[in-house]
Amino acid sequence: MHIVKLDAIGSTNSYLKSLYTEKGAKDMTVVVTDTQTDGRGQRGAVWETEPGKNLTFSLLKYFSGLGVDEHAKLNCLVALAIFRVLQEWGIPNVRLKWPNDIMSGNQKICGILVENMLRGNEIASSIIGIGLNVNQTNFTNLPKATSIYLALGKAMDLEWALRTLIVGLRANLETISQQSWLDVRKSYEEVLYKKDRVSIFSCKDNAPFNGIIKGITRNGELKVLLEDDTIQHYAVKQIRLHS
Ligand code: BTN
Repeated sequence: MHIVKLDAIGSTNSYLKSLYTEKGAKDMTVVVTDTQTDGRGQRGAVWETEPGKNLTFSLLKYFSGLGVDEHAKLNCLVALAIFRVLQEWGIPNVRLKWPNDIMSGNQKICGILVENMLRGNEIASSIIGIGLNVNQTNFTNLPKATSIYLALGKAMDLEWALRTLIVGLRANLETISQQSWLDVRKSYEEVLYKKDRVSIFSCKDNAPFNGIIKGITRNGELKVLLEDDTIQHYAVKQIRLHS
């Protein structure tokens, strides 16, 4: 593993992408920064984080023989790796909110942005961006967020946290081809936020509606039982789960 530490950068995902395209960065290169000024989230959202308090990093992983259709398996394995580390640290009520937010109770503690580089029908490599709220205590602008400090009542060393997370991520990424998608899916579904509970969803341009989350499909779409007793599958771009 090769760790690049930067005082400040726009986005660690974008910076690592430029290292990859311009300099052919090596497998398991990690870029971490104290201050991210243009952090990117899922669905074009902005990722805000207090400088120096939290972990904002990106990891580059090369694959061989990983099909484009295995993107959901990759996302689930990344989320499960972080999930397991947070559980080991004793964070209460950790759950995975589809597609890959990590919650403690009903507050978000970690966001994940996986960006894949494709070669034909394969995922040649991925940049895995992680934003984990570690020592931030004030979330007045983000009332639905929490941190490790708020969950455990004590600060955590950022360097140690980073290394522990990388070890967990590496274990899942290096064994991706040996892990069966069915088992990964089962593990993911077991810890899915609001599984089997009535939830509120928004569809683009439509009124909010109720449904019960039943799991995910082979493609990683969300399976929702609707009020008319039909099961509907939704892709990430189609639907948003209210927290
Ligand atoms: C989300 O929950 O919407 C995903 C947030 C991902 C944020 C991380 S912080 C490090 C990396 N660099 C970015 O620009 N984004 C990811």
